[in-house]
Amino acid sequence: MTDGLVPLVAGNWKMNGLRRDLDEIRAIAGASAHLPRPEILICPPATLLMAAAEICAGTAVRLGGQDCHNEPSGMHTGDLSAEMLADAGAAYVILGHSERRAEHGETSEEVRIKAHAALRAGLMPIICVGETRAEREAGEALALVGAQLKASIPPHPGPGLVVAYEPIWAIGTGHTPTPTEVAEMHTFIRSELGIGLGVGGTKVRLLYGGSVRSENVKEWVAIDNVNGVLVGGASLKSADFMQIVKAFQ
Ligand code: PGA
Repeated sequence: MTDGLVPLVAGNWKMNGLRRDLDEIRAIAGASAHLPRPEILICPPATLLMAAAEICAGTAVRLGGQDCHNEPSGMHTGDLSAEMLADAGAAYVILGHSERRAEHGETSEEVRIKAHAALRAGLMPIICVGETRAEREAGEALALVGAQLKASIPPHPGPGLVVAYEPIWAIGTGHTPTPTEVAEMHTFIRSELGIGLGVGGTKVRLLYGGSVRSENVKEWVAIDNVNGVLVGGASLKSADFMQIVKAFQ
């Protein structure tokens, strides 16, 4: 962990969750009532945002979207603007998740434009970066992530920016990098942010994501410059998620 930054434990529900699953959010809100830290975030599918916002009102649990369009409104069938997410109760939005980069061809340049939109709407962007297995094996992970960061982060992101390092080969696979690899990458990201953002770079929370489970969370908590985690599968059940949350207390 680091040094003056309140850790963030974020759950990315992806394309999972029906109304009955709001009980999980209710349970998380209840279980976190007396935890001063970490900050807790759930990013449910947009269909559940408004109902989740009612459940989380007056609790410490914050909500986020999983993507947004760059325009505030307009002729974009099927898309949601950052303003709509904010209006529905979101405080954050995940941008540039590798599933969106792979399935929707999102580029880092598009991610940067979406990050502008998020900031315009008062949302805090969580910008995701990460390499493929082949890129890591070729020794290109740092260079690749460095290039993604440079292209994805707007020049004046403000105090709310979060960066999530998610090696693509670790997402949903049960495989994880070694703590040494995560430490090396997070140190590198911190230094790149310093170069790009000056002193603002020291305030950005850096999350690790990719097969984070209650069984391995202690490995990530112990690493400098890991200021929280982005959790997919293990965020869907409140009991699993709360074990991860408690590791960052
Ligand atoms: P996972 O997903 O925890 O299921 O690996 C992480 C993510 O994609 O954010």
